[in-house]
Amino acid sequence: METTRILELEEILKPYRMETNLPMLRLAEKGIPLPTARRIAREYGPGNAASPQIMAAGISQIWDEDLRISLVVNLYEECGEGDKRQSHIAMFGRFMEAVDVNLANVKIEPGSLTDRLISTFLKVCCEGPDYRALAILHGFEDVFSYICGLVGRGLEKSGVVSFEAAEFFRHHAVSDLIHAERMRDAMLGSANTEEKWRECLDLARLGASLIYDVYDSIARESN
Ligand SMILES: [Fe+2]
Repeated sequence: METTRILELEEILKPYRMETNLPMLRLAEKGIPLPTARRIAREYGPGNAASPQIMAAGISQIWDEDLRISLVVNLYEECGEGDKRQSHIAMFGRFMEAVDVNLANVKIEPGSLTDRLISTFLKVCCEGPDYRALAILHGFEDVFSYICGLVGRGLEKSGVVSFEAAEFFRHHAVSDLIHAERMRDAMLGSANTEEKWRECLDLARLGASLIYDVYDSIARESN
């Protein structure tokens, strides 16, 4: 049953991995220009800043210790394993600084894709129960690793920021695949009825589409 479920999930998430998103593929191939890099900083900066809160909200829904541990490990990594300079907030901060965008000056437009991304994740993770929070987080982490891979390639190609300043994207291209896998296994364990599993698929799709839409709109505007 587990293999069937993994395949079902795979089918749902695949279209959001941007493997056929031409504007994004073009950016990865030809390089990301400075205005687009700045837009990424403005649009995704607030989302990244909210991610420890979102993960903590998800963790608060989980009473099973095995499931909770997998999420705590993700959050610990997100916080730089105790080293603030290696936290993902600091990592993205170095990218923002390189493109001269200050998070303190970034306003989230009500109803914007960034607003939708943050508010939906917070809502689902605060409401629970466990399998719902795990499903939306899994959808995000799976797709985000592919997006980061493409953005990382595009930044490297244009050389608009230094190798160090692009670390966030290189790191997430790999780490989020591992995070997503932990989340998926926890979700498979917690969705113990067919009804819950159907809900998981819908929420994984929602999580994937929310982050896809943010980067899709940035890429479209750039082309
Ligand atoms: Fe992260």
